[in-house]
Amino acid sequence: MIEEKNDRIISAEHKEVDFQLEASLRPQIFDDYIGQVKVVDNLKIFIQAAKGRKEALDHVLLYGPPGLGKTTLAHIIANEMNSNIRVTSGPAIERPGDLAAILTNLDLGDVLFIDEVHRLNRTVEEVLYSAMEDYALDIVVGKGPSARSIRLDLPNFTLIGATTRAGSLSSPLRSRFGVVSRLQYYEVDELSEIIKRSANILNIKIDEAGSNEIAKRSRGTPRVANRLLKRTRDFAEVKANGIVTHSVAIKALEMLEVDQYGLDAVDRKLLIMIIEKFGGGPVGLDTMAAAISEAPETIGDVYEPFLLKQGFLQRTPRGRIATEFAYKYFNIPIDGLQQKSFLEE
Ligand code: ADE
Repeated sequence: MIEEKNDRIISAEHKEVDFQLEASLRPQIFDDYIGQVKVVDNLKIFIQAAKGRKEALDHVLLYGPPGLGKTTLAHIIANEMNSNIRVTSGPAIERPGDLAAILTNLDLGDVLFIDEVHRLNRTVEEVLYSAMEDYALDIVVGKGPSARSIRLDLPNFTLIGATTRAGSLSSPLRSRFGVVSRLQYYEVDELSEIIKRSANILNIKIDEAGSNEIAKRSRGTPRVANRLLKRTRDFAEVKANGIVTHSVAIKALEMLEVDQYGLDAVDRKLLIMIIEKFGGGPVGLDTMAAAISEAPETIGDVYEPFLLKQGFLQRTPRGRIATEFAYKYFNIPIDGLQQKSFLEE
């Protein structure tokens, strides 16, 4: 099942091959960045104000489902501040000493980007508090009764934290971010623009209807859109004249088993399982995850938010239920079905 997950073309999770692709397509400045208008407009003001005062930008927390451009935005923020960026992630910083080494190497105004910031361990997180609040590092020297704490000054820097779940952040950490921005799923027309921009960079010939069709099936996520664009190009080159038209896009996406809503075989399996095995729900996240052999975090971060947004699933206090729309999608009559309740143990 792990294999199946990694093979999923519509998975919003990062794959190794994406790093290279994303780096080449990533916009460097706000002018090239499409979508997330509210977030971008706010950031532009905060950046301009900080630059005007010759101060470091306040710490920024970016949160939202994977693949929406948190890393891209962090790079743009650093560029627009004319600052260097240092990139790391929550799980990569294992000990307070690792964090101290990173922090003491920062220059004035630098950006430190911590991806998956909710996965920092407690001791590391506690070091971060004074670093964020006072630009200071408290370190303990010596042991036992002679141990004492000394305070090292740090240059004023900007921490940009990214997380798929703001709810998993401890409140002392969350409250130290001056700017908290939530990224939203992209609209189809925005994704279509992103696809055309990427096609241009990658020298892919695509028409308006072709990019629109890919956009519609990209589950609101640029990372998915760019991946589908590349696979559709392959199809266009081998099975057509190399141009991604509407009909080429439809055939390619059919072959990839990505349907008109952007659902793939695993999404369908998840929904069918809730309908057939659990009478439509309610069913808990852990039960859902176990039934299709996926990690509950992956279901919660990646699959469920999109199914909720598209109206296939609904969240209730007792668990998730398949909606009428989901029954219609599968042509399963809802009448007469007893909605059994399966509570999480
Ligand atoms: N590529 C990926 N995300 C993008 C975005 N938001 N704007 C432009 N190009 C992108």
